[in-house]
Amino acid sequence: MTDSAQTAERPSLDPPPGWANPLRDPRDRRLPRSAGPCGLVIFGVTGDLARKKLMPAVYDLANRGLLPPGFALVGFARRDWAKQDFAQIVHDAVKAHSRTPFRESVWKQLAEGFRFVPGSFDDDNAFDELARTIKELDETRGTNGNHAFYLSIPPSAFPVVCASNSTAPACPTSCPASGAGWSSRSRSGTT
Ligand SMILES: NC(=O)c1ccc[n+]([C@@H]2O[C@H](COP(=O)([O-])OP(=O)(O)OC[C@H]3O[C@@H](n4cnc5c(N)ncnc54)[C@H](OP(=O)(O)O)[C@@H]3O)[C@@H](O)[C@H]2O)c1
Repeated sequence: MTDSAQTAERPSLDPPPGWANPLRDPRDRRLPRSAGPCGLVIFGVTGDLARKKLMPAVYDLANRGLLPPGFALVGFARRDWAKQDFAQIVHDAVKAHSRTPFRESVWKQLAEGFRFVPGSFDDDNAFDELARTIKELDETRGTNGNHAFYLSIPPSAFPVVCASNSTAPACPTSCPASGAGWSSRSRSGTT
């Protein structure tokens, strides 16, 4: 199937002409805003949720101009992928599941911010490497300590990842390069 045939079957995210959001307060004059410099760390990036929902959603945001040019995406997982392998996985996930058309220029800009950190959740060295990666992104992409951490992993693994992430310097409170930023954690799954 060609790229254009694939994208043609997907529903558009744009509202039909003349449609107005009935829930929007007519006095609300805010414009849609794109995010400031930031990054997203996905734990469990090889999983079903990350491939089918999270990575395509990141691309859709970029495609709609809602991510900053220096946005960074860090994948953390057990397998020993090189950076280009990770980019290929994201590429395939985006092509298969994104809801907006694939645009090479958007993809190239986004892919420059991809990093992959191999390791399991009980591996302190992997969390040290994650911290180094975040520091490098703060310096080269200007993410400036602003990172969200998404736990796309089994609920039973939440405690060990949160504990490792708060004691290793991946945590913004203890990362020298990230002292001025914000951080946010989100998790999927039922507990
Ligand atoms: N899939 C959905 O549509 C969906 C919807 C709503 C909520 N959720 C929730 O989202 C979470 C993820 O679901 P999923 O379907 O994506 O699960 P999944 O396909 O089983 O993926 C789990 C991920 O966690 C990684 N992982 C597990 N144990 C690990 C360890 N010890 N060290 C490093 N990585 C480890 C796996 O890595 P490996 O590849 O190396 O095994 C994989 O990347 C779950 O809590 C689920 O309940 C999923």
